[in-house]
Amino acid sequence: MKNIRIIALILAVLMVITTFAVFPSCTVKPGGGSGEKGAEIDNYQEGGAYMNADFSRILLTEAEIAGKVREIAGRIDRDYENRQPLMVGILKGSFIFMADLVRAMKTPCAVDFMAVSSYGKGSVSTGAVRILKDLDTSIEGKDVILVEDILDSGLTLSYIIDLMARSKPSSVRICTLLDKPERRKVPISADYPGFGIPDEFVVGYGLDYAEKYRNLPYIAVLSPHIYNS
Ligand code: PRP
Repeated sequence: MKNIRIIALILAVLMVITTFAVFPSCTVKPGGGSGEKGAEIDNYQEGGAYMNADFSRILLTEAEIAGKVREIAGRIDRDYENRQPLMVGILKGSFIFMADLVRAMKTPCAVDFMAVSSYGKGSVSTGAVRILKDLDTSIEGKDVILVEDILDSGLTLSYIIDLMARSKPSSVRICTLLDKPERRKVPISADYPGFGIPDEFVVGYGLDYAEKYRNLPYIAVLSPHIYNS
């Protein structure tokens, strides 16, 4: 009996030693640094590139976003069986979502991008959009899926859709990761909506404030003191 206890003890010690030998760099970060809700996010990026004081909270974690991207990709796959849609990302905000979405899709697709800038964005928006980069490909007869990071007032997409209609695409659908329906100024809705979100200033996963935060892998609510200062 005593021998069995000694052998068990030796085995336990060996297991601990083996674990540290195989995973020498495994350390537990304080605050669960992977964009978890309520976590201490100042530790997320080494060197403290973004202070947690910039954000009031994490709205959508990496895992939640990844799950939604897979869900949307699955819907597109089902709807576009035997067709090859042209995925059009509206820059810059859509670049990360677009990259993840097309990789999650099984449907063969082509990709293109438009870069636009709206005039008088905000409370006095005219709805006019300036095309900074037009499509490289013709959309005539194509099944176009517009890919946006966020659908807000709807002015940008409604302008783009009106413009595209002149080029006679076979169909145009809208896919957006985030949707703020209460901000809508024109009647437009997404065919593939991701998350409906409240009217708060969100950044990350492509969305910026003054060109910052686009590379965050999660989506956070910006603290008002950042944009009020
Ligand atoms: C954002 C977003 C959409 C647009 C949505 O772009 O990427 O294109 O606003 O807003 P709307 O529904 O009110 O028109 P933004 O102008 O911030 O440029 P960016 O994508 O380069 O960040």
